[in-house]
Amino acid sequence: MDKIVIDGGRRLAGRVRAGGAKNAALPLLFATLLTDKPCTLRNVPSVADIRTTRRLLERLGGSVDEPEANTLVLDCAGVDTQEAPYDLVRTMRASFLTLGPLLARFGRARVSQPGGCAIGSRPVDIHLAGLARMGAQIENVAGYTEARCKRLKGAYIILEMPSVGATENLLMAATLAEGGTRIENAAREPEITDLADALTAMGARIEGAGSSVIEIEGVDELGGYDHPVIADRIEVGTFLIAAAITLGDVTVEGARADHLGVFLEALSAAGALVEEVPGGIRCVNDARAKAVDIITAPYPGFPTDLQAQFMALMCLADGVSEVAETIFENRFMHVDELIRMGASIRLRGGHADVTGKVSLTGAPVMATDLRASVCLVLAGLAARSRTEILRVYHLDRGYQQIEEKLSALGADIRREKA
Ligand code: UD1
Repeated sequence: MDKIVIDGGRRLAGRVRAGGAKNAALPLLFATLLTDKPCTLRNVPSVADIRTTRRLLERLGGSVDEPEANTLVLDCAGVDTQEAPYDLVRTMRASFLTLGPLLARFGRARVSQPGGCAIGSRPVDIHLAGLARMGAQIENVAGYTEARCKRLKGAYIILEMPSVGATENLLMAATLAEGGTRIENAAREPEITDLADALTAMGARIEGAGSSVIEIEGVDELGGYDHPVIADRIEVGTFLIAAAITLGDVTVEGARADHLGVFLEALSAAGALVEEVPGGIRCVNDARAKAVDIITAPYPGFPTDLQAQFMALMCLADGVSEVAETIFENRFMHVDELIRMGASIRLRGGHADVTGKVSLTGAPVMATDLRASVCLVLAGLAARSRTEILRVYHLDRGYQQIEEKLSALGADIRREKA
């Protein structure tokens, strides 16, 4: 198994290009199950979760080609089974997004329930309640969700909370339902808008994506799409923090400031100079960060997927910052690892009080989930000595060539066999 080795203390400077968003690409890949026409997805990040999705689509009978780097051509005309098996779903919860499209196109689906997850309990009840409203008969049998319906019917659905995955599953399902569907309290993340754009290109009739109310008028069939994935706002945020934490000067090309509003405000409040420049966002920092309180919230609030990275910055800030996590109950797995690097953090329920230190020291640490692992990379970049991060496969689920990109900015980081 690989490990990442970082000799910290180098200032990062230069330009780096953000890849396509994993969290946008995944639903876009599953959307190809809605049609028997080929779809071309561009700007696809080369990360482990995308490879898992490819395997899953192929297992269902679809075909996936990669005519050039970061472009996939998908053809789900040959899908001949509607079962998403446990061995693939368990490694990636987003596989549950097969349910809506399979049910909508074939009238049946059998999808493994995702099971537990390091960052807390992640039920799928909101997905299922919405599909039931659309007329699906749903049973849980031996760890699988089995759903059937002759044809889904449009429905009025109020989500109990603005779940990203549930909004995506229901949006995809509703495109082929009979009649109109209205989803209230829908998630508003940019990834939802990107999905709706591609579905619209396929012939779906959707209004309101990006707002809390999405209306979909079902159609009888959908065509293909040719669609580029939006830039990964979480990767962008991670590189901007890398600049701030190393007192550097980094421009992230392809970054969109309108996808990162509250986060950019927090980074500015921490003392970094953050500015939109032609083609991207630049972050310059020349002094120790100031303590800033953050509270994660559904979009457009502070993204939970940047909470761990921001906490790494706060570990070195001047003052005490309060980091409140409201989306996932157990998303503080990085705290004990940061403490091993000399951070001072006190946990109380869904809050962490972070008392900034003047420096962190390198240490062997363990990645526990995707965003926690990159938070340790950031801490390692700023730490005084060597940091070794084990269980790098978490990092590889969502970050493409992170060592290469950080090295090009001046970091001393490499991958070694553990
Ligand atoms: C997506 C993102 C993930 C991000 C999260 C929140 C992908 C592939 N993953 O995950 O990176 O951290 O949004 O921005 O896009 N919930 C329920 N019942 C449900 C569904 C969700 O109670 O049926 C709860 C979850 O337990 C969680 C909260 O709702 O506490 C938010 O989850 P959700 O928005 O669904 O996140 P995901 O779509 O799984």
